[in-house]
Amino acid sequence: MKSHLRSRLAVGAMLIFFSWVLTSSAVPAADAISGVVRDAIGPVAGATVRIQATSQAVTTDGQGRFTVHGLPLDQPVMLTAWAPGYYIAGSVPYLPGSDGVELVLVPHASSDNPAYQWLSALASAGEQGNCQNCHADPASPDSMLPFDEWVKDAHGLSAQNPRFLTMYTGTDLAGNQSPPTRYGYNRDYGSFPLPPDLSQPYYGPGYRLDFPATAGNCAACHAPAGAVDAPYGTDPTQLSGVATEGVACDFCHKVWDVRLDPATGTPYENMPGVLSFEFRRPPEGHQFFAGPFDDVAPGEDTYSPLQTRSQFCAPCHFGVFWGTVIYNSFGEWLASPYSDPATGRTCQDCHMPARGATHFARPERGGLERDPAGIFSHLMPGAADQALLQNTAELRLAAEYQGDLITVTVAVANTLAGHHIPTDSPLRQIFLSVAATGAQGQALALQAGPVLPQWAGDLAGLPGVYFAKLLQELWTEVQPTGAYWVPTRIVEDTRLPALATHTSAYVFAVPEGRNRGEITVEARLIFRRAYDSLRQWKGWVAPDILMESAIIRIP
Ligand code: HEC
Ligand code: HEC
Ligand code: HEC
Ligand code: HEC
Ligand code: HEC
Repeated sequence: MKSHLRSRLAVGAMLIFFSWVLTSSAVPAADAISGVVRDAIGPVAGATVRIQATSQAVTTDGQGRFTVHGLPLDQPVMLTAWAPGYYIAGSVPYLPGSDGVELVLVPHASSDNPAYQWLSALASAGEQGNCQNCHADPASPDSMLPFDEWVKDAHGLSAQNPRFLTMYTGTDLAGNQSPPTRYGYNRDYGSFPLPPDLSQPYYGPGYRLDFPATAGNCAACHAPAGAVDAPYGTDPTQLSGVATEGVACDFCHKVWDVRLDPATGTPYENMPGVLSFEFRRPPEGHQFFAGPFDDVAPGEDTYSPLQTRSQFCAPCHFGVFWGTVIYNSFGEWLASPYSDPATGRTCQDCHMPARGATHFARPERGGLERDPAGIFSHLMPGAADQALLQNTAELRLAAEYQGDLITVTVAVANTLAGHHIPTDSPLRQIFLSVAATGAQGQALALQAGPVLPQWAGDLAGLPGVYFAKLLQELWTEVQPTGAYWVPTRIVEDTRLPALATHTSAYVFAVPEGRNRGEITVEARLIFRRAYDSLRQWKGWVAPDILMESAIIRIP
């Protein structure tokens, strides 16, 4: 492993010299290079030969031969080669006019090595291979290199997320723990859980309150580098080493395949996270990084088309608990027009957009300048990202007078999310809140139309609707609940699918009299990370985010 990383740094310079030796005596076109791609056994057909860091590439023929044309005269170009099952080879300079060029592919292991020790992303781990050494720029606080984005992203922080951990332990942020779950007894069926006693101090639900003796499956997605060896036996509060790095760099870039049910296209039930991935952890003495490029060399890297597909994200963004679908951004995407391979958009298209980076490794560590359109961000914005949330939905407001009433219609359209809104975690809600006020600022009374429910906390009773997947615990009937580690049922799912529009109508009474003055009608679309009682029990700081608002003034 170490030797290949060293070679990445040194080889480029050395080969400028060797390239002259590799040119042969045949006389090809002055602007072309031709040759053959082979492995230890013979020629490799169908290999991609690319002028490194450009979009110019050709494929080898049945004899492994290739020719690239249209090259600038007398300027050496770097060629790389890749074929499925092999590491990327080359990054060797050749002069146009060369013939008989030979690019030799080395196969990577075709099976996984479970004994492999994950590499930490952090330079502080003291190994040469730690990603931060090359994929970060300590000199630039706004660096767009993968490490500098990943440390800020929810994946890099997932094993340490205090909301996740307090839901696991049944504590609040200050460490106070709710009492253990109480049980009732029934002669026919044995013991069954009771709802919490809210007359006593309560700090919200927790996996450990219900299952004090087992670790659960949470780590299979939230701390996958640890859970690979023990998907149901990894306690997220007892992690060490790379497992503490959450969804770690090395983890995602060792993914080789995902196991999906051909009947549904989604992962199998009860196979969350690590259980639905296949890895290519390298044998002793080797390394292996799968990525979206086929021209990253020399080093033990390979191209994997899976890295650019939504299916890569599926094992963690689809999760069924006790037969109830809890997490499902992948399934919602799959069922939406966005999964159309020709006209759709992938998870990566929206969550890993190009941000204008020109490198993805520091230049002095071998990073090449590349087309910014092909370098993808690791920030993965989500529930905390105001800019993303303000680019998710459209709000249209209309109001008209009818005698001494005002009729208001509000349309909310999920125009920019590739799945339902809100998606994935059932803790989330989106509220539409509608208000009409008179000239003196007094709220006009709602005559007809929906109001927000009790669990909306400070918004309860206000005119409006909610978009949420509401779970109820089967035994205790607690609702809404985020304790999906116990059996739950979906009471209702009012979320807005991709590209769908929801319309609601409200009738407000206008105070009588000619001098009623100007009436203001306002609609606000509000994103809430966790339902109100949970936020309070846990002491989470997760302020609502205003997604959209619209206002109409009626003179
Ligand atoms: C959640 C999984 C995941 C994690 C964690 C992750 N990556 Fe990636 N990475 C991807 C995917 C997927 C792509 C390809 C995106 C595409 O093609 O649209 C990618 C692309 C890359 C690339 C190619 C350049 C680019 O940015 O497009 C590099 C280099 C890379 N990752 C390095 C890293 C490093 C270093 C870390 C940790 C500091 C890391 N990745 C963490 C999934 C991940
Ligand atoms: C199938 C993979 C998977 C499993 C298993 C899983 N989670 Fe999650 N969890 C996720 C994903 C993905 C998200 C992010 C979803 C989102 O942002 O909407 C998430 C988000 C959360 C959040 C919200 C965090 C926040 O900051 O708002 C909490 C809390 C949480 N999970 C708790 C748990 C607990 C406790 C368990 C075990 C009982 C568990 N999860 C099991 C995938 C999983
Ligand atoms: C010694 C420096 C160095 C270290 C350490 C390093 N990389 Fe890289 N990595 C590079 C360079 C250089 C490239 C290629 C840059 C280019 O061609 O522009 C690269 C490319 C990649 C790619 C792209 C592969 C492809 O084919 O698309 C991935 C993924 C990647 N690295 C992941 C990682 C991860 C994960 C770690 C940590 C576990 C890591 N790297 C550690 C230098 C390093
Ligand atoms: C190994 C499991 C795993 C994989 C693979 C994975 N994720 Fe996640 N993802 C998670 C977990 C766990 C969270 C929640 C972390 C938290 O909030 O603490 C999450 C959160 C997110 C979020 C929300 C971020 C936020 O700030 O709220 C987005 C967006 C996301 N993932 C997108 C993706 C995309 C796109 C891919 C595929 C390229 C992907 N994920 C692959 C496990 C995974
Ligand atoms: C067309 C663009 C688009 C596509 C495609 C897309 N998303 Fe999203 N995603 C969004 C937007 C916009 C939001 C913000 C709205 C929200 O949080 O519900 C979002 C939010 C999220 C969140 C955060 C949810 C939360 O409340 O914490 C997760 C997780 C997520 N997406 C995962 C995925 C995954 C996995 C895929 C692929 C299966 C995917 N997304 C495909 C646009 C997209």
